[in-house]
Amino acid sequence: MENINMEYIDDYIKSLIKNEDDKLEQFRKECEKRKLPIIHKEVGQFIKLIIKQINAKSIIEIGTNVGYSSIFMSHEMNNEGKVVTLERSEKFYNEAIENVKKFNLENNIKVHYGDAVDLLDTIDGTFDLAFIDAAKSYYGTFFDKCCKKMKSGAIVLSDNVLYQGMIANDDLVVRRKKTLVRNLRDYLKYISQDNRYITSVLPLGDGLAVTLIK
Ligand SMILES: C[S@@+](CC[C@H](N)C(=O)[O-])C[C@H]1O[C@@H](n2cnc3c(N)ncnc32)[C@H](O)[C@@H]1O
Repeated sequence: MENINMEYIDDYIKSLIKNEDDKLEQFRKECEKRKLPIIHKEVGQFIKLIIKQINAKSIIEIGTNVGYSSIFMSHEMNNEGKVVTLERSEKFYNEAIENVKKFNLENNIKVHYGDAVDLLDTIDGTFDLAFIDAAKSYYGTFFDKCCKKMKSGAIVLSDNVLYQGMIANDDLVVRRKKTLVRNLRDYLKYISQDNRYITSVLPLGDGLAVTLIK
């Protein structure tokens, strides 16, 4: 990812990852060909590790897009756990529904259509893992609303938190992203300084924050 790691480092890390499912790999390639903003491969590998480590059985995701990461995470739970995922674009929501069907995961993945800021108040259940991967300016709101639904000891992963390096370096900030940068900086400060959480920010992909809810 530009401005986070050198390209050769990212390429090398990606080259180490073992592909375990041809159908999922084909789906990734189709998404990449369409330049859809799906998770970076190395971020996927880290999510896989977390899912196995905490033995996640229930995941809430903010930002479905066409369903790649939902299907990936369900697969990593051996298609036994549940994924609840929220998407505000009608087009992507419909595509995600179709993709979930193609992978026969209708019983494992529930896609909700609407703005996560509102939808989160209507979602029932408790979760082992949250994956926040939607509008960057609302991460604080998504996080607080997710936290109310997380089990003790749960993990919240927030993607793209270094946003092409802009979060760490003023020289990289482009004018139209100023509000986003300010909000993401506030967000990282919040989840890093608040005593209820332990957060580590990793320069993986476009930046991934890993937060333990104490
Ligand atoms: C980066 S993509 C998600 C990619 C997906 N997690 C994956 O890796 O396959 C972000 C998605 O979040 C959706 N989104 C953005 N803001 C949202 C919001 N407030 N509520 C629900 N969805 C939102 C966008 O429409 C977009 O499809």
